Amino acid sequence: MSIQTPILSARGLHHSFGPTEALRGIDLDVHAGEVLAVMGPSGSGKSTLLHCLAGVLVPDRGTVTYNPVDEVPLQLNELKETKRARLRLTDFGFVFQFGQLLPELSAVDNVSIPLLLKGIKRPEALERSRDMLQRLGLDGLGEKLPGELSGGQAQRVAVGRALVTSPAVLFADEPTGSLDSLASENVLTLMLDLVREADTTVVMITHDARTAAYADREVIVRDGALGAGYRVST
Ligand SMILES: Nc1ncnc2c1ncn2[C@@H]1O[C@H](COP(=O)(O)OP(=O)(O)OP(=O)(O)O)[C@@H](O)[C@H]1O
Ligand SMILES: [Mg+2]
Repeated sequence: MSIQTPILSARGLHHSFGPTEALRGIDLDVHAGEVLAVMGPSGSGKSTLLHCLAGVLVPDRGTVTYNPVDEVPLQLNELKETKRARLRLTDFGFVFQFGQLLPELSAVDNVSIPLLLKGIKRPEALERSRDMLQRLGLDGLGEKLPGELSGGQAQRVAVGRALVTSPAVLFADEPTGSLDSLASENVLTLMLDLVREADTTVVMITHDARTAAYADREVIVRDGALGAGYRVST
């Protein structure tokens, strides 16, 4: 595979929710190893686009091609939900605005969930999760429940849960949107250190120009289309 082949390639994406046209023809390439910021007004279709790229949602029209390194390309829009769910678990990681940690599980147990779902035995899963928490500066907080952590600490746990499986692509939907600027910077710096080290591709939605400044490239979604001046590949 050529080094230029985009890891994700979307063509002609259209998607509606009832009468609402959320995506009106989006073409986008995401390059392997890049950190891509997706910006744009509220309701413009950013989350819908991210969900289509990640195989969470199948667009009404258009294609999403995923090119895993050294494996055959997959057309996500043609895969059944069970296959897409499996792929999300093995190849993708997700971070949302409000961490969405399981409140009754400790931090380390939250991080270990995707490893256990992948079939990794609990002792190894816990060891890898503790190691991840340590890299996120959360040493000693592994036994705490999410409710006992600060917002920034909880988001770092969410980042750990997303990255512990070493995903090829990290999808982040306003990962620091609920944090103040200091906590936000702290979470972003740690997250980006980890992804740069592992060459993880990142698609990150943000409203915040300071957050977007951490990205290699940004695209702007307006009314379900990519903003003027934007080219499919740069
Ligand atoms: N599940 C849904 N059911 C109905 N309408 C939806 C659904 N999800 C999104 N929409 C609509 O589709 C459009 C695009 O929504 P989307 O969530 O992609 O926007 P967004 O850019 O992520 O906005 P925000 O910045 O507020 O998160 C909006 O008009 C929204 O109301
Ligand atoms: Mg959104």
